[in-house]
Amino acid sequence: MKTVDQLLLLNQEWAARKAGEDSAFFTRLAAAQNPHTLWIGCSDSRVSVDTITATEPGEIFVHRNIANLVSSTDFNILSVVEFSVEALKINNIVVCGHENCGGIKAALGGPDHSTFRFVTGWLKNIRDLYRLHRDEIDAIDDDAGRANRLAEISTIEQVNNLSQAYTIQKAWDNGCPLRIYGLMFSLKEGRLRQVFEKFAP
Ligand code: CO
Repeated sequence: MKTVDQLLLLNQEWAARKAGEDSAFFTRLAAAQNPHTLWIGCSDSRVSVDTITATEPGEIFVHRNIANLVSSTDFNILSVVEFSVEALKINNIVVCGHENCGGIKAALGGPDHSTFRFVTGWLKNIRDLYRLHRDEIDAIDDDAGRANRLAEISTIEQVNNLSQAYTIQKAWDNGCPLRIYGLMFSLKEGRLRQVFEKFAP
């Protein structure tokens, strides 16, 4: 286990190595950001976007929450989407779900207010999705398979939710070539695959 002191040391090593490899790296980083993609992912520590996509600081604008949900009443994500599209002019948005997602597994188990007062409420939309797709999910005969299929269904649902957001509808009305991709990350293989895509109607 790493302490914060160790993280500070590792950061100093990283900063020195970056500056050594590319003396203008931090000058560019400080000047402005010009990210090409907005990433909406799960908070899970195993799905670190910069690492799994081999991208550098400045490339990807990020929003993460438990189980990568897009909620129409969440001002946090709506603000991130608005800033991404209106200010940063980002046209690629990724919603990324993943295998073995703790949020999805918790939702499959039903509400548990005794342990998680806030997480239980947050996951309600996934429990609703499970109810809607119960026949398909319950026909899968292993726990991991059920969770992974629900994660996939939820990722598609979140792309659909996002596509109905004001900022996205306005961008499409204005002819913006914005696309929203639903991806799944396989923890066992370290690979991303596309499961859905949505663009201007
Ligand atoms: Co997760």
